[in-house]
Amino acid sequence: MRLLPLFALVSACFLAHGLRAEDKVAYGKYLVEEVGKCQDCHTPRLENGQLDKDKWLKGAVLDFQPIKPVEGWHKTSPDLTSSSRLFQRWGAAGIAKFLTTGLNPRGHAADPPMPAYKLKAADAEAIVEYLKSLK
Ligand code: HEC
Repeated sequence: MRLLPLFALVSACFLAHGLRAEDKVAYGKYLVEEVGKCQDCHTPRLENGQLDKDKWLKGAVLDFQPIKPVEGWHKTSPDLTSSSRLFQRWGAAGIAKFLTTGLNPRGHAADPPMPAYKLKAADAEAIVEYLKSLK
């Protein structure tokens, strides 16, 4: 009998934890899609100009360029999904660090027009959780 409240507590914690993880992915999706607008550069477009939902964040050839030359301008953006080479090479921690410092694992900034985000750790982690949910 005395074990019952403990069991209830443990299962409640477990459930809350599960929900929190789900919330994290949803929050990461919000940051990516509505704040960072990562898809504008990292998702290819269809003929009609709409983003290709089947290749969401799979990397793209940019459809814009600067009016004046910009040194180091990068015409392509990499695949950000969990099956990408970038994800394998940098790992979740490397990507989170890049999003909090603006520096990649070698200590360099990315080329333009990739913005140098300096997010709070919790926000960067939520973005990584969302990216992990994309294959
Ligand atoms: C204005 C266009 C643009 C936006 C918006 C953008 N990116 Fe990028 N991103 C790029 C380009 C171009 C590159 C390639 C730069 C390079 O290889 O140095 C890149 C590279 C990256 C890289 C690899 C960096 C490296 O050094 O290889 C990561 C990780 C990344 N982006 C994540 C994101 C995330 C997450 C968001 C949204 C929060 C985002 N990007 C928004 C254009 C963009």
